[in-house]
Amino acid sequence: MKTQYYTATSLDGFLATEDDSLDWLFPLGSLKDSSYPEFISKVGALAMGSATYEWMVRNAETVAAETGSPWPYMQPTWVFSSRNLPTIDGAAIRFVKGDVRTVHSEMRAAAGDMNIWVVGGGDLAGQFHDAGLLDELIVQIGSATLGKGKPLFPRRVLSPSLRLVSVHQMGAGMAELRYTVDIGRAAGVGTV
Ligand SMILES: NC(=O)c1ccc[n+]([C@@H]2O[C@H](COP(=O)([O-])OP(=O)(O)OC[C@H]3O[C@@H](n4cnc5c(N)ncnc54)[C@H](OP(=O)(O)O)[C@@H]3O)[C@@H](O)[C@H]2O)c1
Repeated sequence: MKTQYYTATSLDGFLATEDDSLDWLFPLGSLKDSSYPEFISKVGALAMGSATYEWMVRNAETVAAETGSPWPYMQPTWVFSSRNLPTIDGAAIRFVKGDVRTVHSEMRAAAGDMNIWVVGGGDLAGQFHDAGLLDELIVQIGSATLGKGKPLFPRRVLSPSLRLVSVHQMGAGMAELRYTVDIGRAAGVGTV
């Protein structure tokens, strides 16, 4: 029953370009050849920010062509936004705003004994971390740099609160690092 931030990032720490493109990411590897199938099989609830959700809305046709559905998640999803956003047919989405702790309680109840996936972006994952709710970071580092873009995790988290537990090479395009977050020792936490 963990809360996990599972994401891909560029080598220089960006999730997406400044204009929310992920085109740099797809040539680097395939989800089906990654840890994703096993990871998602243990997820009971998802959280994402509005830019991440709007990428799904904008790319619904591509997602449908690849997965058979414009919304590939069976699990309930909490989308954080202060705005009114369009819905996607067949998606179990709740739009929420504000304190992640309240939402996390709802997600925990829905997920039961499965994990919670914080999809991104980086600041939303940071909000869960700030509240002491993030248990693991699972980061697939792509062999590409972007120079600027949407940050992986805009927080200052100092040693020793992150504990590296595994390193896995995925061909020449990716390396996956898994960290546990030692919440009790997360002393050097701050926004940047
Ligand atoms: N590389 C990867 O594997 C990967 C993974 C995840 C995401 N991505 C991409 O990375 C980019 C992330 O974008 P982003 O950094 O802008 O992050 P984001 O979390 O997707 O969106 C940020 C927005 O979410 C809303 N929000 C966040 N916290 C909130 C809260 N507590 N209450 C209410 N609203 C809240 C705010 O917008 P509003 O209130 O204005 O709606 C905020 O500006 C996207 O392009 C996404 O597609 C890539």
